[in-house]
Amino acid sequence: MKKVLFVCLGNICRSPAAEEVARCVAAERGLEAEFEFDSAGTYGGHRGQLPDSRMRAHARRRGYDLTHRARKISTSDFFDFDLIVTMDDANFDDVRELAPSPEAEAKVVRMADYVRQHPWATCVPDPYYEGAEGFENVLDLLEDACEGLIDSLQNPNNDLK
Ligand code: 4NP
Repeated sequence: MKKVLFVCLGNICRSPAAEEVARCVAAERGLEAEFEFDSAGTYGGHRGQLPDSRMRAHARRRGYDLTHRARKISTSDFFDFDLIVTMDDANFDDVRELAPSPEAEAKVVRMADYVRQHPWATCVPDPYYEGAEGFENVLDLLEDACEGLIDSLQNPNNDLK
């Protein structure tokens, strides 16, 4: 069983969508029992909320039902999860700063490193102040990266892009 935590800023757009996309990719491959996915934010201001209504609507159109309740990342997450996957460079830096040990810091990676069909992507950008295109772009990147992430967890010897 591999446990993966996705992290963005508010935990209401990118990371709750990543969590559900990853769950669906694993299910399509019959690997539900091998993975556990969760998400959190570096900012706790949306704690307890469902994902943003725009994110839920765009995700719904692709068949993803987003029901996660927002929460802030905590120190225990570094012990509970095998991998902590961040959406952009600010999330990456913020999460690494919270890591309680070098071993915990080594669990923190960037989602963009698993993208294969969008090789120019350097992050999964914050859609909060964007229009519909921003949310669609997030889902395109997440679907691509989740395939790459699960491949990489199944075949740990394969290099990232
Ligand atoms: P997320 O998007 O990090 O993908 O959940 C955001 C959500 C809320 C805010 C910013 C980004 N905010 O400023 O409240």
